[in-house]
This record gives sequence, C-alpha cells and structure tokens, in this order.
Amino acid sequence: KGHLIDTDHLSVSEMEGLFERADTWRSRNRTETARAYPGRFVANLFFEPSTRTRISFEVAERRLGMEVFRLDQETSSTEKGESFYDTLRTLDSLGVEAAVIRHAGGGLLAEMAGRSPGPALINAGEGEGGHPTQALLDLYTLRRHFGHLSGLRVAIVGDIRHSRVARSNLWALKAFGARPVLSGPESMRDPRLESAAPYLSFADAIREADAVMMLRVQLERHRESLFGSAEEYRARYGLTKDRLERMRPHTVILHPAPVNRGVEIDGELVEHPRSKIFEQMENGVWVRMAVLERAMEGGV
Ligand code: CP
Repeated sequence: KGHLIDTDHLSVSEMEGLFERADTWRSRNRTETARAYPGRFVANLFFEPSTRTRISFEVAERRLGMEVFRLDQETSSTEKGESFYDTLRTLDSLGVEAAVIRHAGGGLLAEMAGRSPGPALINAGEGEGGHPTQALLDLYTLRRHFGHLSGLRVAIVGDIRHSRVARSNLWALKAFGARPVLSGPESMRDPRLESAAPYLSFADAIREADAVMMLRVQLERHRESLFGSAEEYRARYGLTKDRLERMRPHTVILHPAPVNRGVEIDGELVEHPRSKIFEQMENGVWVRMAVLERAMEGGV
C-alpha cells in the first residue's frame, strides 16, 4: 500500500528513491508526464487551511494526468456527521485511488491506514503531528544544494512545540545522518524531541549551521501567549541581517512558509540570494509527483 503517514515510516532507501524519481519528473516535459496516470482519480481533502501544499499537490496531480477532486470540510458530508472512515470508504467505492489529507487530528491518518482498505493515504500536514512531504521537499532542496545530507548541520529554530514540520524533518534528517539542532523560545520547547537533537541558544544554533530552518510562529495554535510582541520575538529569535552576517558564508536559509515577515524572519531575507524558500516551493511539486507515483504503484 502506498500510504505516506510520516517520515519515520520511510527507510533511507525509500526516501532516496523518492528523490531520484523527483529528479526524473523534474527533467520531463508536461506532455511526457501527463501520460503517467490519465483518468486515474485522486481526492484532496483539506480540512485545515493551506496554500502551498494544496496547490502544489494539485499541480503535481495534473502534471501526472490525474483526475483531481477537492473536498473541503464545510461542503462535505462530514458536516452532517459522516465519519472520516466512511468518507474514505465512499471515495474507495467511487474509484478514488489516493487521498491527500490535511487534518487537525493527530494520529487519525495512522489509524485510518490501519483500518481502511480504501485509497492510499498521503499526509499533507496533520495537526501538530507530521508533515512528511514538507520534510521530503526540504531534504530534497538541501540534497540538491549540498550534494549530500550526511553530516549536514541543520538548525531548526522557533515554534518547535507546535511544529509538525520540525518533527518530520527531525526524523528524516537523523535517518540520513545529518546533525539537526533545535532552538527557540523556552516556552516553545518540546522536551520530547531533545533526545533526538540538542537544544541550543539561538546564537549557538546558527553559528555552525550549514542550513537554518526558521519555523513560523503558529499564532493560530497558541492557546496562551507564549511570547510577547512580534517586535520582542524578532529581537530575540528573528532571523535578521545582523544575524545572517554572523552565520557561515555558505549557510542557507529555509522556511516552510507561510512566513510572518518581520517576526521570525525579516522580509528582505525571504528573497535573499541565500534563501531557498521559493526553491523549496518549486521542489514541492517534483517531490509530490514522486509521492503520488509511489501511492499509485502501491508503495513501490
Ligand atoms: N508549508 C505549508 O505546508 O504551507 P501551506 O500551509 O500553505 O500548505
């Protein structure tokens, strides 16, 4: 089965295989890629907001020649109380072979993958749990830039506690032998992750890093104020030009976006020559084509 629940379910050779297929899709033109899965059905279930992941999956699906359906929470029968399980069984009955799902509920996809004989499930960001395609596109971007992942020092900085991006990246980076470190405000630490990566001060984390991955402050998930004003956050934990100058000359900037310009990263650094942010977005299409191909081929 071609489910993709999180990066810790994938072996290094499976991830390498996805990166190689992403390279292949990148090199092909649209006429060639459209011959891959014409007339095959995929559904995108986005029950939380998204711009990049939703559109890049849709671009990837259309490039592969697939027939694409979109299901939103407000307009689906989940609003009438239909369970997620019954929704997936329904899609299966209708011939949908893969379901790309963004959902707030932690653990729901793993549970559904265990129960459902239905479509291949692809996690497009699940609550505070995992965001595997984001991590795969982040690693793909680093691999293209540096030529390897083993030994790379990656500082993951910011709202660690609420970040599914941090979690999925951590598992994948560790699997490849990279050396991730964590940093950010004390109130946003997650001690459960610190056996996998050390927690450093912001200055120490970025000083030796090869890549600095800034995380969005997830204002929508904060139930209490975990930091003061935006200005205060920027002053203590924001990536500014001054801090960039204290980093090594080869160090690159990553951010999954959307960005809070002027909070965790200054606006001028988003488009800086050392920023990979828009390259990450472009790479998301090739990586998601590879993930969709894996789903359609039953995990091979
Ligand atoms: N990086 C990311 O998941 O962005 P969206 O929430 O816009 O999909």
